[in-house]
Amino acid sequence: MATKLGKIDLKNYNLDGFEFEELISEKRIQKRVEEIGSEISKDFENKIPIIIGVLNGSFLFMADLVRNINIDYEVDFIKISSYGNSTKSSGTVRLVKDISADITGRDLIIVEDIVDTGLSIEFLFNRLQEAKPNSISFVTCLKKPTKVDVDHLVNYVGFNIEDSFVIGYGLDLAQKFRGLSSIYNLTPKKDIE
Ligand code: IMP
Repeated sequence: MATKLGKIDLKNYNLDGFEFEELISEKRIQKRVEEIGSEISKDFENKIPIIIGVLNGSFLFMADLVRNINIDYEVDFIKISSYGNSTKSSGTVRLVKDISADITGRDLIIVEDIVDTGLSIEFLFNRLQEAKPNSISFVTCLKKPTKVDVDHLVNYVGFNIEDSFVIGYGLDLAQKFRGLSSIYNLTPKKDIE
């Protein structure tokens, strides 16, 4: 059975009858990020958008995305929390750290790691809207089938995936595994050691 994940030895982790399988390779991610970067560069030509990363999960996607955008932009971050240490959303979104930029009249591009229930996007849209920006666009690396209808809010999607728990490329399980360059699926273990 697979005991290594990138450079991480899984023997150090109690995954409770689950294991990780590669879902999206680093190569596929990087190619898609390039494509989204070009699209955004075209769509926001002659504007100076503020690109706002949603912490913690978006940090790798955000870093790769901005390096594939070839127009002027500014960068800021916001931190919200909905998962705690669990693999299920708590259903309540909480603001942990607010943005510092003045967003009134500006074009905002909010960068998410993954859209799951859609509650975070809905929360962010409602909150940022209050400051009367010129536009709010959302870009997410991954999108699961959402409970809340947020399709009209999400302008750029890296990959649509099934409803299962994933880690890597910024995504964590209880704050671990964020640094992996590929994305992995948490699946029930097939082999018994
Ligand atoms: P939503 O509010 O349910 O759409 O959840 C969004 C947030 O939940 C994301 O920004 C992630 O931080 C977290 N999340 C949702 N699904 C996963 C997953 O499969 N793995 C790791 N984190 C996830």
